[in-house]
Amino acid sequence: KIPVIIDTDPGVDDVLAILLALASPELEILAYVVSFGNTDVHAAYENIYRLYQAVGRQITSHPEDKERFPNFSPEVPPVLALGPHGPLEGGRHHAQYFHGRDGLGDVSQNHPELNVHSEDRSSIFCANFTTTTKSSVEVILDLLQSRPKRSITYIALGPLTGLALLLRGHGEVVRKNIGRVVIMGGALDVPGNATPVAEFNIFADAHAANEVLSFDTPERGLPSDRVVLLPLDITAIHEIPFPFYVKHVDPTFESTRKPSIPSTKSPLVHFSSSFFERTREVMIEFGKDAMELHDIVAIWCAIENPSDPTDNKDDLPVMSPGWAVVKRNFSIERTGELTLGMMVIDRRDDPTAYAPGSNRAQVQSLLERYHQPHGLLESIAM
Ligand code: BDR
Ligand code: CA
Repeated sequence: KIPVIIDTDPGVDDVLAILLALASPELEILAYVVSFGNTDVHAAYENIYRLYQAVGRQITSHPEDKERFPNFSPEVPPVLALGPHGPLEGGRHHAQYFHGRDGLGDVSQNHPELNVHSEDRSSIFCANFTTTTKSSVEVILDLLQSRPKRSITYIALGPLTGLALLLRGHGEVVRKNIGRVVIMGGALDVPGNATPVAEFNIFADAHAANEVLSFDTPERGLPSDRVVLLPLDITAIHEIPFPFYVKHVDPTFESTRKPSIPSTKSPLVHFSSSFFERTREVMIEFGKDAMELHDIVAIWCAIENPSDPTDNKDDLPVMSPGWAVVKRNFSIERTGELTLGMMVIDRRDDPTAYAPGSNRAQVQSLLERYHQPHGLLESIAM
């Protein structure tokens, strides 16, 4: 099994990602570190309970489904730790425009039947999580030091604040012990989603992202052979079309919010359809009737690409067949009024970076013609 720490800000796609992790026998979930991000950290934490409540209800009403979620009640339950409340620097940005005020499509308002009551909260906690009084940084450090070196995969599905704090305080231990780090974040050759040029997880804490991804400063960031960054370029093209969801999961699904009515759906389908109501409306406003699977792709990548503790040969992670990894150089913008969180790539030597249909050689020949007396004017006149 691949031991994983999931650093998350649930979040509609985070919840789906965790659902995939719970359903994946390849993984052993050691801890969840809950961070601010899509919503504030306490609402994000609450969404883990909502998810566990829904899976628990599903298993209670359909006991045969227990097997579908082998990581739901493992022998050693994961630690649930509260992570950072806000970024290292700058203002706190949430993605409530997309995920709703509660981070889960406003289910807390529209579907109060999914809210977790305090007595249920403690029973969910006792049954499914290992209790701790430690900070999230201590929890992660303990795990990294108690397991074989480089065996743990760290999956980051939210802002990189927690990882940056860990590296600031304990960089050497982390660099020595951490295995693969799969990060959903960034936009390289596609537009951003939080702003025209920035992806949300990087935008929400550009300083943290800059520290974690400072590959050229060995005493600061993560070693480049451990990091697999999954930017929007890759994640946004993986989606579930809502018509597919309706056809295969919930034929009665409607995106119009309605007052709660007793549901005949199974608890888990009721849960996902409830937070998809608003999500679908927002996605349609954005121009597509589909849900992008950003964080889910990161879990999938972690499952298919376990870290190899013996790999010390390259500065790139070694991937399984079917996965390709490309080295990219970028800097993260931390001060721009319009460009905060942008991944700036120096394309001046990249011939393909010029206008479509042209390339550097063509541009060069155009310039040469321009510099010959009348050359360009003659060619236009011809
Ligand atoms: C990322 O930002 C968040 O809104 C999502 O949960 C995902 O982690 C996509 O840009
Ligand atoms: Ca997320």
